[in-house]
Amino acid sequence: MSEMIVLSNGEGLVGMPVAAKMLLDKESSLKTVEEGIKQVELSPRVTCVGLGGTPNLLREVECDAAIMNGTTLECGSVGALEGYAHPIVVAKAVMEKLPHVFLVGKGAARFAKEIGAEPANLLTEEAISNYSSWIKKNNIPENIFKDKDLSLLPYANLSANENLSKGTTIFLARDSKGNIAGGTSTSGWEYKYPGRLGDSPIIGAGLYVDNRYGGAACTHTGEMTIRAGTARAVVAYMKKGATAEEACHDAVDDLSALKRGFIGTVVIHAIDAQGNPYVISTEKTDTLRYCIWTDVSLEIEQKKPVMVD
Ligand code: GLY
Repeated sequence: MSEMIVLSNGEGLVGMPVAAKMLLDKESSLKTVEEGIKQVELSPRVTCVGLGGTPNLLREVECDAAIMNGTTLECGSVGALEGYAHPIVVAKAVMEKLPHVFLVGKGAARFAKEIGAEPANLLTEEAISNYSSWIKKNNIPENIFKDKDLSLLPYANLSANENLSKGTTIFLARDSKGNIAGGTSTSGWEYKYPGRLGDSPIIGAGLYVDNRYGGAACTHTGEMTIRAGTARAVVAYMKKGATAEEACHDAVDDLSALKRGFIGTVVIHAIDAQGNPYVISTEKTDTLRYCIWTDVSLEIEQKKPVMVD
């Protein structure tokens, strides 16, 4: 059995070497998660997180992030944050410096400035080009969103028909002291309605960790895990004696009870209090991978999640 583990989704690969080294150097799981996610936020190749992230309908990159400390159950989140390189750093500062746990929009940006967070233009040329192609493909005149009542547009149909990305990065880590931490960061659903928050910044939906039982973090359709309280549910099931595997299957059952609304894929990543991992996707998708490093393997491996039939 491993003592130390870091688990990320496929998008987290670029942050895994730093995270693994930090655990080996006896850094805390909290710092490990933050630094791992910072690497993903810096990579323009990961088009659902930080720099290079996909914009909203107004072509603005709005970022969500959260971090949670499984030792103290402290947490911090930011939602719809614009103009900063590292939303995860701002989320951690919310946790450490404020009596609050969640800041959004202008307040989050104001706080980011006050703490000296690194400003950045996250909208890359590639993201602009992809946005323009999407607008053209859907026969939407450029700039129409600036002047129109967005709720009048056939947005729901566009989003349902196109399988737009709802990518995220998630990290879960257990350090040499047995402390668990988790974090998330995302630019959210591609071409989302401005102000839309997914599950990534919502503690209990996209992220929950508790040293005593384990941790869970979700990717993909945040609208579903918010409704089902998925990450908290997985940890609560483990509290009641379920293994990580059993807890994830129970949470998938909860998701399958959702009726109406937007239904898509959800991927649940979990570790128990001893660091045993389990990752499950509610739908079969050939390309899905997660990344794992332990102090037993000492290698960063990419694996396929279990897929629900
Ligand atoms: N799970 C990411 C999102 O819904 O934004």
